[in-house]
Amino acid sequence: MYPKLTINLQKLVENTNRMKDLCLENNITNLCVVVKVMSGDLRCIQAISSVDIDYLGDSRIENLKRFQELKPKKALMRLPMPHQAYQVVKYSDMSLNSEIDTIRKLNIAAQKQNKKHEIILMFDMGDLREGIFFQDPYLEIVDEILSMDNIILKGIGTNLTCYGGVIPSQENLTNLVKIAHSIEHEFDITLPIISGGNSSSVFLFGKGLIPHEINNLRIGEAIFLGRETAYGNQIPYMHEDIFTLYAEIIEIKEKPSYPIGEIGMNSFGEVPQIKDLGMMKRAILAVGKQDVQIDNIVPIDSNISIVGGSSDHLIIDLKSSNYQLGDVISFRPNYPGLLQLMTSKYIKKEHM
Ligand SMILES: Cc1ncc(COP(=O)(O)O)c(C=O)c1O
Repeated sequence: MYPKLTINLQKLVENTNRMKDLCLENNITNLCVVVKVMSGDLRCIQAISSVDIDYLGDSRIENLKRFQELKPKKALMRLPMPHQAYQVVKYSDMSLNSEIDTIRKLNIAAQKQNKKHEIILMFDMGDLREGIFFQDPYLEIVDEILSMDNIILKGIGTNLTCYGGVIPSQENLTNLVKIAHSIEHEFDITLPIISGGNSSSVFLFGKGLIPHEINNLRIGEAIFLGRETAYGNQIPYMHEDIFTLYAEIIEIKEKPSYPIGEIGMNSFGEVPQIKDLGMMKRAILAVGKQDVQIDNIVPIDSNISIVGGSSDHLIIDLKSSNYQLGDVISFRPNYPGLLQLMTSKYIKKEHM
């Protein structure tokens, strides 16, 4: 059945193992695998959990709820919604936080459930998404957190290369470590975790630039696609071909490449910019923007290219290739593409 996304579980396990090893070689003794891109797909998460990792991270409580039976601890990657405090405590062992009001709510929720809830206090080191801004005061907040009976301050962390595209560096990670040291010194405590970011920190591996105090990373994309995300380079000995999209040809016709008639808006409200490339052998595939944004997938066959599409149709320039009606064309998704494909209920998922 098409369209379908195949998932090679063996390669997924191998990538997870390889990342675990790379982390250990770089002093990262605590690994959170961020699985949000899998939309809660239990078979994938089970495969990942067969590796000895510390946390399964997801940004949705609905997904973490499905992973309860699995061995790794569960960590919520998006700051908790205050109204969800009870569920956050119920279904995650740890959450990332930056708002004292929310942490108070988590404490109350944890009291009600007779639980201890771990938090990582997030610091914004310049990327300008979540976290206490690194130049702002924080000791008062830490003081209050430490006074809470049902909250465990497990550590501090930062997130980079997400909104502002800021690359992890010895400088911004050292600044994070300095914050950790000042907290430890002020309150005479040890923070078990200093979390130095996501897949964009992987490019620092082997360069001796990650301060040795950084002992946790939260890694998603690098495991699923075998690439670090600071510069998009492949990680040696990791698979880049775990996921393949297959879609079926429902029309093949020779047509002009440039539309005929006055050009207004297309079905997505945009005025299309189309080049006149003369006559073209075009295929229409049964997959569309409702499933995946078309610039998030690339045909594996480099002799063909994507021309455009609409909600349910993808148009391909077949050039001189010899595809027939009913043939299937395969694609590699990038990370946003994978996120969309995993989320689309119209894409069949086939584990192999
Ligand atoms: C807070 C946080 N940490 C880590 C990650 C993992 O990012 P990446 O997939 O780039 O490794 C994400 C993104 O999903 C995130 O939101």
